[in-house]
Amino acid sequence: MISYSLKGQSALVTGANSGIGEAIAIGLGEAGANVVVNYVVDPEAAEKVAEKIKAFGSKAMIAQADVSNETEVKSMFQKMYSEFGTIDILVNNAGLQRDAHFHEMTIDQWNKVISVNLTGQFLCAREAIIEMLRRGRVPERSMACGKIICMSSVHEIIPWAGHVNYASSKGAIRMFMQSLAQEYGDRGIRVNSICPGAIQTPINKAAWSTPQALASLMTLIPYNRIGQPQDIANLAVFLASDASDYITGASMFIDGGMTVFEGFAEGG
Ligand code: BGC
Repeated sequence: MISYSLKGQSALVTGANSGIGEAIAIGLGEAGANVVVNYVVDPEAAEKVAEKIKAFGSKAMIAQADVSNETEVKSMFQKMYSEFGTIDILVNNAGLQRDAHFHEMTIDQWNKVISVNLTGQFLCAREAIIEMLRRGRVPERSMACGKIICMSSVHEIIPWAGHVNYASSKGAIRMFMQSLAQEYGDRGIRVNSICPGAIQTPINKAAWSTPQALASLMTLIPYNRIGQPQDIANLAVFLASDASDYITGASMFIDGGMTVFEGFAEGG
């Protein structure tokens, strides 16, 4: 069987100091990659993630950057190259929500979500692809020249009232990811999306922190449990490894069945 090992590869995970990003950064480190733990605030949390990665014998460094800021993104990648030399794996994970009824949504709430969730993925992917093209394939490390994983959501296909900015950003990620996969496939760069459903993290605390909220959430999830960050990390390691070498341009839903629309089990 082909290896899941990421030994000797260099990875950057955005928004890696909490939630899904944290679990992915640790998972990549456990699989042998050297990992840049990006964060915006809370360096202590990022440092703790880096320590966990180092405990597996991989290298780790923390790097502060707001992914929607071009200058900060460029200097984060330069910092990464001076420590690790190059990039093999980019996980475009950083994302946020600024929820509001659409008729009450401010331009700041709209712009914040689009700039972090969409423009942030553009800025980081552009830096990574520039370096991957410059360097080319290194067959001893990986069959692919580079792997880019975009964090999307079930809301790239499920419309979401009260979250129009967020759903729009994730719908856009689908075309962003597929267009990149189309443009760079012949150069050996694989680009895929992970589309999580409800994963127990700070971003959706309101949906799981009371028994009533959790019970209502379960009506949307056929598999009847909330997802854990580790579920997503398992998929991210697979997508970063040669075990998934023939997968590119794919949106991979990991949602306990949320996208099979449980409401239709008895209706329609
Ligand atoms: C959102 C969560 C939500 C989940 C399922 C995610 O993309 O960030 O807040 O619980 O989708 O609706």
